Order: sequence, then C-alpha cells, then structure tokens
Amino acid sequence: MKTYIVGNWKLNFTVGEASIYLHKLLKKMPNYRDVEVVVAPSTIALQPLSLQVDRHKMKLSAQDAFYRDYGAFTGETSFSQLRGIVDFCIVGHSERRYIFGENDKMVAKKVAAAIRHKITPILCIGETESERAFGETADVIRDQLIGGLSEVADDDFDNVIIAYEPVWAISSTKAAKLATPDEIAEVVELIRQTLADTYGAELAEKVPVLFGGSVNKANAGAYLTVPGVNGLLIGGASLILDEFVDILEVAKRVRQ
Ligand code: PGA
Repeated sequence: MKTYIVGNWKLNFTVGEASIYLHKLLKKMPNYRDVEVVVAPSTIALQPLSLQVDRHKMKLSAQDAFYRDYGAFTGETSFSQLRGIVDFCIVGHSERRYIFGENDKMVAKKVAAAIRHKITPILCIGETESERAFGETADVIRDQLIGGLSEVADDDFDNVIIAYEPVWAISSTKAAKLATPDEIAEVVELIRQTLADTYGAELAEKVPVLFGGSVNKANAGAYLTVPGVNGLLIGGASLILDEFVDILEVAKRVRQ
C-alpha cells in the first residue's frame, strides 16, 4: 500500500497563490514511487490547477462537495462537477461537522456520491476533547465510521480512505494538544477492528488509514511509524511549501 501525504489547505490561498505554490512544489519534488502526494485547495482553484498539475507526480483533492448532482442547492458544488478534475475528496472533516452542521447521514451520502463519480473519499472521523474526557471515544469512532460508510458497497472499498483526526489535536482547535503515538495506535486499531467486524478481515486490511492533527516535519516520522497508519492529513504545515516538502522526504525515508 502507498503512503498518502495529503495537504488540506482549508480556506487559504487565492487562485494565483495556489497556482504559484503548485508550480514550486512540482519543481521541488521528485517522482515518489511509494508516496501518493495529494493537495486539497479551495474549490475555486481546482479547475485551473487540474490543468497545471502533473498527475504522474501528484493528485488533487477537493475539501468537500455536495451529494446531489444538480438542482436548487445554492452555493454548492457537486461531485459530478468535480469528476475528472480531482481524484480525491475530503468528506466529513470536523470543521464541516462542527461549523457547518454535517451529520453522519449527510457524510454517508457524500461518501457514496464521491464513489459514484470515481472520486476517492477521504472520510474524516475523530472525537472531541470532551468526548474523550467522558470515555466516549470508541463509541464516537464506531458511529462515525459505520455511519459514514453505510452506503458503500463491499466492491467499492478499494476506493475509500479513512482519516483519524482527533478534534482536540487539530491546530485550529483552541489549546490543541499533540496526540501521542500510543493514543493514535489505540484508535487506529479500533478502526481496523470495527472494519473487520463489519466487513471482514480482508477488507479491513486494504483500507488506508491516515492520521491528522498538528502534523509537522518534526513529528511526521513518529506518526508515520504508528502501527496501522498509512499516511497523514496535514493542515497548517501543508501551507508552508518547504515544510510540506520536508514531510514528503520523511515519508519517503520511512518507506525505505
Ligand atoms: P492541522 O489540520 O494539521 O492544522 O492540525 C489538520 C486537519 O484539520 O485536517
């Protein structure tokens, strides 16, 4: 399985800035064999960047999309419109859940719509600080995982990625704390066990599980060597080109 390094740019960069970043990144980075490099710019930048990106080197992801293909849904962009432009789409990010009120039902429809349009969903799940404090982590993870995947057919699991992002570790969270490798290992194990119990052991092993939450070049190596972790979803640090390139090099070294 490849190692996935995904940069989530969130609401940052104009189209021009995104284009310059991509240009520099493509110049700086080699062609990695075992590392799948992905960046997720704002929706408005996706179409122009899709003409600029070298898809042999890296791929584009959307940060979100709507599950209906067309209709009276003011302000939305559909997966059908993104088809052919992106290879991935982040779905159910905690900022979507907690700022924009997305629930597991909507997330499940988005996961299904992505797959229908040949876009790999990166399904984000993770507990908040208070859920962890009340001992609810396992329940939250199971609910978000099973809920988010509820409309996925067994045959489509080749095209699904899970990202474990504890909300309390995301850099935009007030007083964010760094997750320890042991804390991550425990939840990743729970994710695989839940997948195995629900869909069978074979399927559970082939789904990539990424970690996200204040990842930077200093901790990327430790997080990538947590058992069961197949990659990283990176917010803040991915906005700094040199830092992102350093993380790619860490990923390459870990793979060797
Ligand atoms: P962070 O964001 O790396 O800035 O913590 C990660 C994310 O929200 O995906």
